[in-house]
Parts: sequence; C-alpha cells; structure tokens
Amino acid sequence: KRVAVLISGGGSNMLALADACAAPDFPAEIVGVISDKKAAGGLAKAAARGIPTFALERKDYASKAEHEAAVLEALASCKPDIVCLAGYMRLLSAEFIRPYAGRILNIHPSLLPLFPGLHTHQRAIDAGMRVAGCTVHFVTEGMDEGPILAQAAVPVLTDDTAETLAARVLTVEHQTYPLALWLVASGERAFPHDGEKSKAAPV
Ligand code: GRF
Repeated sequence: KRVAVLISGGGSNMLALADACAAPDFPAEIVGVISDKKAAGGLAKAAARGIPTFALERKDYASKAEHEAAVLEALASCKPDIVCLAGYMRLLSAEFIRPYAGRILNIHPSLLPLFPGLHTHQRAIDAGMRVAGCTVHFVTEGMDEGPILAQAAVPVLTDDTAETLAARVLTVEHQTYPLALWLVASGERAFPHDGEKSKAAPV
C-alpha cells in the first residue's frame, strides 16, 4: 500500500512509520512526506531516506482553502492508498477529507475520547490521571473523534511534568502508529461500517 505522511514538525512518528515500512514484509511504503512548514525537521529526515518531500508553507497561501488545494495536489501526485497525519497541526476540512474518506489515520497524544485537542499531557496531569497514552484513529470531519484503531497507555508519575510525560508517551506512539498502519495496510482493519463495533486489535 502507498502511504503519504503529513507532518508539521520533527516528524518522529513519520520516521517510526518509515522504519517500520523498511521491513521487507511490511505491507506499506512511504511514497511522500508533505509539511505545512518549510522548517519542519521531518522534511530533511524524509529526504535523507530518499522519500519525496513537499513543503507547502501555510503563510505562502492567501487562504486555508488555497493551502488545502495545494496540499491535495501534492497528495494526489503521490497517489496514496492511505494518508497518515503525524504531528500535522492543522484541522482538515470536509472537502479535504472526502476524497480520502476512511483512509486517513491520525495519532493523538491522549487516550481518546479523553483530552481531544491541545495540551493533552498537562490536562492529564491536572486531572490527576494515573495513566496517559496515545490513540491512532481514522480521521473524520470532527476533531480527534474518528473510530479508534490502536491505543497504548503509560503510567503518569507523581513528579511528571508535561515534558516528561510527553517524552514517555512519544516512545509508545512510535510503536503504536506502525501497528495501526499495519492493521489498515494489511486489510485487517477498515473504516467500520455503520453499527459494526470497532473490534479489538488482534494482539
Ligand atoms: C506527537 O506528540 C504527536 O502525538 C502529535 O505531535 C507530536 C509530535 O509528533 N500529533 P512528531 O514528533 O512530529 O511525529
């Protein structure tokens, strides 16, 4: 399966996916990395692996719609079967999602449905959570609310700060995203039909 990855920053999740895809028996290959920030560190890391990259700086476009059109054009040139959002810090419009409906994944640094949105680690600490973690889900028009594919939990320690918790969650993100991508690329999981309960992953 052809996978395009959208990033905005360091791209550590993109790298984890690229490393997983490098395994000969992994049913996916990364065919492009697209960023909405020219300065995204992930672009150089992708290029170093010979992956085509596209830097489409939001501020170079007059509107969100024009920026999305440029991203969609770059995406179309990759002819992806699956789109992975990995640290992509922009909400996608319904028009953007439609052509790829059911084939866009996102990783979010909380155990959804808890803590959708931003500052998830500080919010988990402030709420007195004893566990935190990450969620890979199918992307739908709402924010951080599509069907869940995979999750991983980590302990919240009494002396944790948002930074120390973020680092601990990031380590399990790098294991969970490749698992979730394998589930979809192998055909083991697809966007659930209406009413179909999202079955637990076969692990
Ligand atoms: C990660 O916490 C991810 O969950 C969130 O963005 C952060 C940075 O991701 N979406 P990356 O290092 O750019 O992959």
